[in-house]
Amino acid sequence: MSELLFVNACVRGARSRTLALARHFLTEYEKSHPGDRVTERNLMEERLEPQYPEVLAERDTLWNAGRLEEPMFAPARQFAGADRIVIAAPFWDLSYPAILKIYLERISVTNLTFGYDDAGNSVGLCRAKRLLLITTRGGNFSLPETAWMESGARHLQALCAMYGIPDFQLLCAEGLDDVRNDKAALLAGAMAQAEALAPNF
Ligand SMILES: Cc1cc2nc3c(=O)[nH]c(=O)nc-3n(C[C@H](O)[C@H](O)[C@H](O)COP(=O)(O)O)c2cc1C
Repeated sequence: MSELLFVNACVRGARSRTLALARHFLTEYEKSHPGDRVTERNLMEERLEPQYPEVLAERDTLWNAGRLEEPMFAPARQFAGADRIVIAAPFWDLSYPAILKIYLERISVTNLTFGYDDAGNSVGLCRAKRLLLITTRGGNFSLPETAWMESGARHLQALCAMYGIPDFQLLCAEGLDDVRNDKAALLAGAMAQAEALAPNF
């Protein structure tokens, strides 16, 4: 049985358009992968602590003692072991909400999600072959004059390289807060894209 890890960083919960898109993708995924298990990590319920000095000190102490089986490293172990990963997060301040950054800091653990070979090269240690970021954006950040500002998908794609996840995919509805756009049509288009992506994910 394959495991899909769903990381939910949709802060507006039931009112989140990103979450609606993600739920649609997951429904389609489950239809086409009936034997798979989907495990959700809801970052709003979980409320991981940022790496304040004492949290980082505890992490360093445990890591230096080789105690990677401690609960503090459970999110990293889960991320490293998942077969597929879906992250849903709205576009905030040109990237994503801070709760997702806290999670990413928590899972970026040397010798669990990434490491170094004998020659000192960075080596990804995650099992997943693909990671999908699902997001919605108020403006349009795919235009030649705006794409350089987009720092959410770009950061996650770079992290995938570090974690050894070769296939980064993006499902995005954008321009949703631009009064000139037809929001419903944009969202319907993204929903259709979700249906197309899910069977082969
Ligand atoms: C705190 C906050 C910051 C945002 N920052 C941006 C931004 O930098 N650029 C942008 O285009 N939209 C921005 N938006 C708009 C959201 O990206 C957009 O409304 C999105 O669809 C919200 O997703 P949700 O419905 O899943 O919460 C921001 C919204 C919030 C609440």
